[in-house]
Amino acid sequence: MGSVSEELSLVPLHQRPELMEACAQLLGEEWGKSRASRLHSLQRSSDAFPTCLLLLQSSGPAQLPASEKSPCQLLGHIRLSRVAGHPCSLFVESVVVPKALRGQGYGRKLMEAAERYARARGFRRLHLTTHDKQHFYAHLGYTLAEPVQVMPFMSPGISAEVLRVFSAHPRPAVSTPGTLVPGTNKRSLPSPDVPPPPPLPPQGCSRAAPATTCGQSILETPHRDAKGVPIFWMKKDV
Ligand SMILES: CC(C)(COP(=O)(O)OP(=O)(O)OC[C@H]1O[C@@H](n2cnc3c(N)ncnc32)[C@H](O)[C@@H]1OP(=O)(O)O)[C@@H](O)C(=O)NCCC(=O)NCCS
Repeated sequence: MGSVSEELSLVPLHQRPELMEACAQLLGEEWGKSRASRLHSLQRSSDAFPTCLLLLQSSGPAQLPASEKSPCQLLGHIRLSRVAGHPCSLFVESVVVPKALRGQGYGRKLMEAAERYARARGFRRLHLTTHDKQHFYAHLGYTLAEPVQVMPFMSPGISAEVLRVFSAHPRPAVSTPGTLVPGTNKRSLPSPDVPPPPPLPPQGCSRAAPATTCGQSILETPHRDAKGVPIFWMKKDV
């Protein structure tokens, strides 16, 4: 990993609130949006998802100026959310490494650490979308996949009935092994208060079936985001 003094860790942002500003800045430099909007989203991080995770290094990489070093250097950010109708899946978003540190292996470290984080909590599959980083993710083992429905946040104010509707799989004809609750034929329904991780051990969460890519290739996708921009859906069993 280059000239780096080691000691990397993946830490939930809500355990390090003093890094909130640095994190908002990192995301803002990549994707714009207002600082207030970023902070609002970051402040929702919790163990119950969405969870914002930070790749941290206890002392900064050698190539950063001394003025930018702090006892804990922020090397990356990733957000994990629950997936409606897929109790063993998490959705990956906002993967970013500071511009000055790209190409040194931190992106891989971040993704691999997030995969371990998910697996340790009983999740077995990660989903994501990307406009242009499909080759990066493919290099890390992600394959083309069908869309899933993300649960961006869970509010205690949302009724169980609304959640039940929201949790229905958008395309029931395309089922995946992670769709069913272990030992039942029912789709999962997270608690309206705090969505708990799936129970351990997750014996019902089997490994991947081949991706149903429906005309999608690593160079061309039939899917579009809300603005009509082509978007690739990918997944990986972890
Ligand atoms: C995407 C991003 C997180 C990658 O981080 P990074 O630290 O530069 O990536 P790494 O150096 O860890 O690369 C890991 C591996 O992926 C490969 N790789 C990196 N970018 C790649 C790309 N665009 N296409 C194919 N392979 C790529 C590297 O060669 C490396 O291979 P190796 O581990 O076998 O040597 C980083 O470029 C970034 O923050 N980009 C801006 C934000 C963004 O677009 N995020 C993705 C949103 S979907």
